[in-house]
Amino acid sequence: MRFPVKSILAGALLAFGATFAQAQTVIKFSHVVAQDTPKGKAAEFFAKKAEELTKGKVKVEVYANSALYKDKEEMEALQLGSVQMLAPSLAKFGPLGVKEFEVFDLPFIFDNRDELHKITTGPVGEKLMKKLQTRGITGLAFWDNGFKDFSANKPLHSVADYKGLKYRIQSSKVLEEEIRALGGIPQVIAFGETYQALQTGVVDATENPPSNFYTQKMHEVQKHVSLTKHGYLGYAVIVNKKFWDGLPGDVRGQLEDAMRQATAYANQIAQDENDRAMEAVKASGKTTIYTPTAEERAALKKALVPVHEKMSGRIGKEIIQDVYKATGFDPKKL
Ligand code: LMR
Repeated sequence: MRFPVKSILAGALLAFGATFAQAQTVIKFSHVVAQDTPKGKAAEFFAKKAEELTKGKVKVEVYANSALYKDKEEMEALQLGSVQMLAPSLAKFGPLGVKEFEVFDLPFIFDNRDELHKITTGPVGEKLMKKLQTRGITGLAFWDNGFKDFSANKPLHSVADYKGLKYRIQSSKVLEEEIRALGGIPQVIAFGETYQALQTGVVDATENPPSNFYTQKMHEVQKHVSLTKHGYLGYAVIVNKKFWDGLPGDVRGQLEDAMRQATAYANQIAQDENDRAMEAVKASGKTTIYTPTAEERAALKKALVPVHEKMSGRIGKEIIQDVYKATGFDPKKL
């Protein structure tokens, strides 16, 4: 039997194409924020670097803005292997049973990024990441975002102003306690549903770093922001452990290199992105931005630092002490 040369060639090409397609590994990287944020930009950066360093063996598909999954679902999807990579906020690891991550949510625990980096790049950060292994997750890096400000539809100056409001929070028990310490009512709402919850009055107030506040257009539905910088919001980049361990060693090494570069990039742009976002909120003219006086901020700190002691049973005394030691935080010095 004779085969026409053309069809033999076409068959060979098809077979080659199939082999090539099989050889390419796809990493689905899902997240909940806008592309134009520190996390959104760092995820895109990682995708580009990963493809470049693996010479196309790995393709990273980034799904921003809760396009694939919202907060809770994305954690489940990662464990099931429906997505391979996430970068959830550190306030969202409690539901996984890794409550120690909530140490990052303790109000006023970091005065600045240098103190934060002592944890994220030091032994405490390493210890936290190791805890994820038992959940079928490998922690790859910590990415910065920024310090949070409170917002509402009324001015927030004195501690008394915070009382009685309903606050959208992330799924962290520490944040729940933080709001209760102010006499507020906390409500856990997915990030992607926050704008609507504020717009429809399901909640009155919230807390965010400026980059998240601006890119979700919360300035359209919150008349007042108080630059409290009372707590930190950042990320852990995580992968499905089984997937990660199953990669060829050389490819994993190249991806680790891409992640190192993306982490440096994320941490380098985070402050600027937040500064730019706050400028944009200002320029919108829709939200009044208030800088608390030193006395007002000290009073807020005094009201919120007792949350550390109250939550030490949940987070673990030892890890809180480790952070205090590394950063020099003294709860008695208010
Ligand atoms: C939030 O839910 O407010 C943040 O965790 C969103 C994010 O990923 O920055």
